[in-house]
Amino acid sequence: MIEAAIVEWGGLLIRWAHIITGIAWIGASFYFMHLDAAIRATPDMPAGQGGEAWEVHGGGFYQVRKFLVAPEFLPDHLIWHKWQAYTTWITGFFLLVWIYYLSADLYLIDPAVMAMSPWVAAGLGMAGLAAGWLIYDQLCKSGLGANDTHLSIACFVLVVVAAYGFQSVFSGRGALIHTGAFMATIMSANVFFVIIPNQKVVVADLIAGRAPDPALGEQAKQRSAHNNYLTLPVLFLMLSGHYPLTFSTPYAFVIVALVLIAGALIRVYFNHRNAGKGELWWTWAVAAVCLAAAAAISLSSTPLGRQALAIAPKIDGGVPVQTAAAPDEIADIVAGRCSMCHARLTSYPRVGMAPNGILLDTPEAVARHAESIYLHSVLTTAMPPNNVSGMTLAERRQIAAWFEGRNGERAE
Ligand code: HEC
Repeated sequence: MIEAAIVEWGGLLIRWAHIITGIAWIGASFYFMHLDAAIRATPDMPAGQGGEAWEVHGGGFYQVRKFLVAPEFLPDHLIWHKWQAYTTWITGFFLLVWIYYLSADLYLIDPAVMAMSPWVAAGLGMAGLAAGWLIYDQLCKSGLGANDTHLSIACFVLVVVAAYGFQSVFSGRGALIHTGAFMATIMSANVFFVIIPNQKVVVADLIAGRAPDPALGEQAKQRSAHNNYLTLPVLFLMLSGHYPLTFSTPYAFVIVALVLIAGALIRVYFNHRNAGKGELWWTWAVAAVCLAAAAAISLSSTPLGRQALAIAPKIDGGVPVQTAAAPDEIADIVAGRCSMCHARLTSYPRVGMAPNGILLDTPEAVARHAESIYLHSVLTTAMPPNNVSGMTLAERRQIAAWFEGRNGERAE
């Protein structure tokens, strides 16, 4: 019981901290992107030296001035924005360890994709994240870095290749979370290794009375723009683990590509609008097409799910063509394959209580959860996780037949 409470509460508290720090970081990042776009020239600043914006919020007015490169004098009180990014990464990494590395058999390792020990899986995951940053950083510093469009295309390809790579070694869910963490690591490392160090050099130059190098600011701005375009796709991938349709298809890497395009375009819309350059409505249309395509691809489902469905009785005028398994038989299958986790007394390591409170230990409970049982164990093979309890294809077919038969009865 104590162990169950530690696993549950530990997960909850780390997730809580991660969401709070993430909101603080993304909130600040969106705010500064908006501010940057909204800065207008002001008569008392020479052209190219900066500008200002007026804002109203919380009962007062704010006059914010931006100095390009640096002001002439360094103020005594200078606010840095960096811990939001660092703490988001740190809490996110703890969460990855807590869920995906400590329960690797449930979440990360799918023997049907590649069998490996939890240590190897965790090592591969972390190596992938580190490699992502090193390659991305080299791309930015290479000749490509001078051309924003070329660099963006290279980064897009890098992320999609990474998604494909993770998908070739991990469970679907593990692959998408690692693709999200891959991008999020690039974002945090941009802050830690480029944006903040560059700003520190500028500050040191100011203190020493030297003119700072404008290239430092430009480099930081480029990385900061990348972070902005990556934000929405990262959030999508962080949520995807809860939606089995997103991670159960062999084309999950294509979904990643489509979500990258959609998420970046939505940011383009806002950046353009905030700069007072008008509304690029087409970005929403293209984003909507990408997301609709992603949803359509997700329905292609797992090969196993498709096989299970192929045998399901076709409903013909409301009457099942084939007699579906009786509810009691289904309850037996579920008891055999699901109730080591989804019961009041669980018997699976590190699953101290029924996940998400979902109990599947009585025929009534099974009937109540028919829809989600069908989604998780027929339409996709998200459950049992990585098939730890060895559910057979025949059993999935029986569930499919039962579910469609039930719906047929309801339709009558
Ligand atoms: C080894 C343990 C284990 C077994 C066996 C298992 N599950 Fe789960 N199940 C989990 C875990 C862990 C989660 C929580 C996943 C999450 O939080 O995303 C879960 C979540 C679910 C959910 C809820 C998903 C949601 O988003 O709320 C359903 C429905 C479900 N399982 C159905 C089943 C069915 C049906 C079976 C048997 C075919 C089964 N599970 C077998 C561990 C298990």
